[in-house]
Amino acid sequence: MWPVGRDEYGAPVHVELKNKSGAVVAGGVGGGKSNLLTALVSYFGPSPAVQFAVIDGKVSDAAHGDYADVLPRVFAHAGHDLREANALLRRLVKLLHDRATMARQVLGTSNMWNVGPSEQWPLVFAVIDESHTFFHDHKGSDKETRALAALAAENIRLTGLLVKGGRSVGIYTVPATQKATGDAIPTSIRDVCSAALSFYQRTTEASVAALGDDIRNWPDMDPINLQGSQYVGVASMAAEGRPGFVRVRTPYLEPAHAAAVAKLTAHLTQDPTELLANLTSPSLRKDEPPEDDAPAAA
Ligand SMILES: Nc1ncnc2c1ncn2[C@@H]1O[C@H](COP(=O)(O)OP(=O)(O)OP(=O)(O)O)[C@@H](O)[C@H]1O
Ligand SMILES: [Mg+2]
Repeated sequence: MWPVGRDEYGAPVHVELKNKSGAVVAGGVGGGKSNLLTALVSYFGPSPAVQFAVIDGKVSDAAHGDYADVLPRVFAHAGHDLREANALLRRLVKLLHDRATMARQVLGTSNMWNVGPSEQWPLVFAVIDESHTFFHDHKGSDKETRALAALAAENIRLTGLLVKGGRSVGIYTVPATQKATGDAIPTSIRDVCSAALSFYQRTTEASVAALGDDIRNWPDMDPINLQGSQYVGVASMAAEGRPGFVRVRTPYLEPAHAAAVAKLTAHLTQDPTELLANLTSPSLRKDEPPEDDAPAAA
């Protein structure tokens, strides 16, 4: 479970991860989205059974933005370049397919959650911050614009595959965006994410784009009520296991603390694709000697 903060009665609020696909994180500029996501990396950082990939649409290289501090704990990252993001999304979708192919053989079940994440088969968070950068439609007829439009469509398709197929193999996708419109979070992605939370919004239409139509039935919980500096870090999210929404205050994480945790846990960062290869390639298995070293048949 991912602890996101506390509700207005002080009770802890969690997002369930087990057997879940992903979470949409929305909300206006400076609402607290990136803080929540760097806190996520810090919270799970000490666990070797969790790995992180980060795509950050705000900067040319994720090494320079909000995620610079946690980068030592991130196995793969990309900045705002559509091609770079596309390459990383492809890599994650390939991991999804490879894991799906190998799950029965390696885990003895097609659903990782039946056995739980492990150091060798970690839960992978795919954080896509400023996701509108990668999804929004590029309109124009010149060659470069058409190429960008094709990449954006491909990014939507790949992210959709991650959200739809990631659950059982242990990939949890988190698209975050300040632009809560249909082209920033395509409904094809939003509707398959198991959780959604939104910091302040300017219009109910934006709240609906982030949280779904049901927020219209709960006007008190509409994140348009969360405007103002006292609500920075406060989000509205669909309640788990019951109808309606909860308001949650997320804790602020000092960047220096995030950096310290990432540095201390950097040695746990591993590429899940390599981990899978180690599990499945016979020559790398510890219990079987590599072929070259195998004793010659008598
Ligand atoms: N949970 C919180 N409690 C108190 N202050 C916070 C919290 N989260 C963020 N802040 C403050 O708000 C600022 C902006 O937060 P953050 O960068 O997380 O917003 P954002 O939603 O990612 O904004 P943007 O849309 O511009 O990327 C932070 O630098 C911090 O000062
Ligand atoms: Mg941000």
